[in-house]
Amino acid sequence: MIIVTGATGALNGATVDQLLKRVPPHHIGVSVRDPARAQHLADRGVRVRQASYNNPQALRRSFADADQVLLVSSSDQSSDVVAQHDRAIDAAVDAGAHRILYTSAHGTAFDTPYPPLRIHAATEHHLAESGVAWTALRNGFYGDPSQLLGAWQETGVIAMPADGPFSWVDRRDAAEAAAAILTADKPLDGPVDLTLPEPVTLADFAASASEVTGHQIDRVVVDDETWVRDAMNNGVPEEVARFTLSMFQATRSGHFANSDPMLTRLLGRRPRSITDQLRERIADGQVSDPPR
Ligand SMILES: NC(=O)c1ccc[n+]([C@@H]2O[C@H](COP(=O)([O-])OP(=O)(O)OC[C@H]3O[C@@H](n4cnc5c(N)ncnc54)[C@H](OP(=O)(O)O)[C@@H]3O)[C@@H](O)[C@H]2O)c1
Repeated sequence: MIIVTGATGALNGATVDQLLKRVPPHHIGVSVRDPARAQHLADRGVRVRQASYNNPQALRRSFADADQVLLVSSSDQSSDVVAQHDRAIDAAVDAGAHRILYTSAHGTAFDTPYPPLRIHAATEHHLAESGVAWTALRNGFYGDPSQLLGAWQETGVIAMPADGPFSWVDRRDAAEAAAAILTADKPLDGPVDLTLPEPVTLADFAASASEVTGHQIDRVVVDDETWVRDAMNNGVPEEVARFTLSMFQATRSGHFANSDPMLTRLLGRRPRSITDQLRERIADGQVSDPPR
C-alpha cells in the first residue's frame, strides 16, 4: 500500500489524484489531520486514517500496511517542524514501511541563507539514518507567482531584489512526478532534483509576462534594504520581508542554478514553463491583465 500524508493539502492532494489514475484505490491510504476533509477520497475507496505529525501513535496506526509512505513537509510554523518530520519518519519505520519519500526542495543544504532548506537538510539526514530506503523529492519552487513577482499586474514592473537563476515548477507537474516515482518499477534512491530543464530569473518572468499579456513588463532591481522598507510600509512584518529576501539572496549565490532532466523524463514531456503557467493563470483570472 502507498500511504500519503498531507493529502488534504495542495501538493499531496494532487499526488493522490495522480495515483488514482495509476493504481486501484484500495492500494492507496491517506494519513490526514482532518478525515472529514478527505471524504471525497474515502468515497472513491481510498483508506483514510487520522494522524498529525505531533502524535506518533496515530501516525503508526495510519501507516499500517504501508509499503511506501510519502511524507509532506509540514506547513505548521508554530511547531518544531524538524521534530515533526523525525516523528513521522520514525513512525513509518516502526510501521514497517519499505521506503519513505519526502517532499523536499531543490537546493536543500545546511549552508544556505534560505531557512527552509536547512529544515529539509535535517530531515533528509534523518531519512538517511533511518535504515529504510528513502527518496527526497527535491521540488523546484512553486506556488502563487504574485508572491514571487509582486504587484506587476498593477504597476507593469517586477520590482524585486536582485535575483539569480532558480526553478519555478507547476505544482501539478511536481505531483505527477511524485506519483510516477511512487509507481515506477525501479525506485529512485536519495535526493531527486525535480526542476525545469533550464533555470529562470525574474528577467525571464518579465519577458514571459510581456509575451502573454502583450504589454511591456519590465524587471526593476530594488536595493535589498529599500525593498524590505517598502514591504514593511505596505504592512508586511519585517520578519516576513527578510525571510523572502533570504530566498532572493540564495538565488543570486547560484544556489539553485543547476537543473536536471529528471522531471521531464518522469512526465514524458516538457514540464509546464513559466510562460505556460502565467498564460493559464491569466486565462483563469488568477492573475489579472496589467493596465495599458
Ligand atoms: N518548494 C516550494 O516552493 C514550496 C512552496 C510551498 C510549500 N512548500 C512546502 O511543501 C509543503 C506542501 O506544499 P503544499 O503546497 O501542499 O502546502 P499546503 O497545501 O499548505 O499543504 C501542507 C500540508 O501539510 C499538512 N500539515 C501541516 N501540519 C501538519 C501536521 N502537524 N501533521 C500532519 N500534517 C500537517 C497540512 O495538513 P492540513 O491539510 O490538515 O492542513 C497540509 O495537508 C508545504 O507544507 C511546505 O513545507 C514548498
